[in-house]
Amino acid sequence: MKNILVIYYTQTGQAKQGLDAVLKPFNNEQEYKIHYELIKPVTALPYPWKYSEFFDVFPENVHAIPFELEPSGINMTINYDLVIIAYQPWFLSICRPISSFLMTKEAKILLNTKPVITIINCRNMWLNAQEKMKQRLLDLNAKLVGNITFVDRSANLTSLITVLAFELKGIKEKYMGFFPKYGISDTDIQTAPVIGELIKTSLQKNNFDDLQSQIVGKGFVTVKPNLLIMEGRGKALFPLYANYISKKGTAGSADRKMRVKIFGMVLPTGILLLSPIITIATRLAPIIAAGKMRKLIAYYQQNELKK
Ligand SMILES: Cc1cc2nc3c(=O)[nH]c(=O)nc-3n(C[C@H](O)[C@H](O)[C@H](O)COP(=O)(O)O)c2cc1C
Repeated sequence: MKNILVIYYTQTGQAKQGLDAVLKPFNNEQEYKIHYELIKPVTALPYPWKYSEFFDVFPENVHAIPFELEPSGINMTINYDLVIIAYQPWFLSICRPISSFLMTKEAKILLNTKPVITIINCRNMWLNAQEKMKQRLLDLNAKLVGNITFVDRSANLTSLITVLAFELKGIKEKYMGFFPKYGISDTDIQTAPVIGELIKTSLQKNNFDDLQSQIVGKGFVTVKPNLLIMEGRGKALFPLYANYISKKGTAGSADRKMRVKIFGMVLPTGILLLSPIITIATRLAPIIAAGKMRKLIAYYQQNELKK
């Protein structure tokens, strides 16, 4: 009997949808027992978010300041054969519920020496969050053996609008009558069980060495050059903005409201202006720096952390 521990957080169910699709081949299998643990912050997060609430979580999320979680129901006496973490990037960092869990004593015990697979669901920007995840897992002495990503497949500017409608208004489909449905793609959900089969084979062999390259081969770790460059900008600027806001006050405080508001305007405007420029630049990049881009893409598709 193999025991799999699944740790996940979800607001609108997409993470669970991805998980269920990947783990479908394990349904009704006697040899495997899957233990699900939904991470619950003591103070539940809002959904849909008010504009001010959405941008107010930015500084603490980027700084990975843990908040209190409900006690977990994880059976600590089981020696799990595999740990799966399903999470969302929030502002290019690990979402706070999962980063808080990774800082608990329980996580330290549970993840020590364990193979870990991450399942990310998001709009389209997950590279930096996953770099932080790689570091966290190294700190916990765990081994990242697989990463599967579910992204929104619309163009960047389209999903910028549909994600805001989704997060701030709770509208998922046909925003304003014509925008495409926000969220992870139905095709990916339909094809994801093939990844579950690969995980099963790795578990049976007790060897995960080839898993990541097989996941990449199935198209579940797409890295787009224009998004890679945009994330690079955000990675450099976000900690500065986060400091700028948190200098004025703690989460939710009235003193920092103005700065949160400014960030809430600067971020979408920045993406709106930068996106077309970067897209054109990356169309030229293959001509100018094809090798460098290929190397970067290959780096983000694998699970080691750059020294
Ligand atoms: C506060 C916040 C910040 C977000 N930041 C990002 C981001 O940096 N990159 C991205 O691709 N998606 C981002 N998203 C979109 C989420 O990843 C998306 O809503 C997620 O797919 C929803 O998952 P769930 O249904 O499991 O809760 C953000 C969402 C929230 C709520």
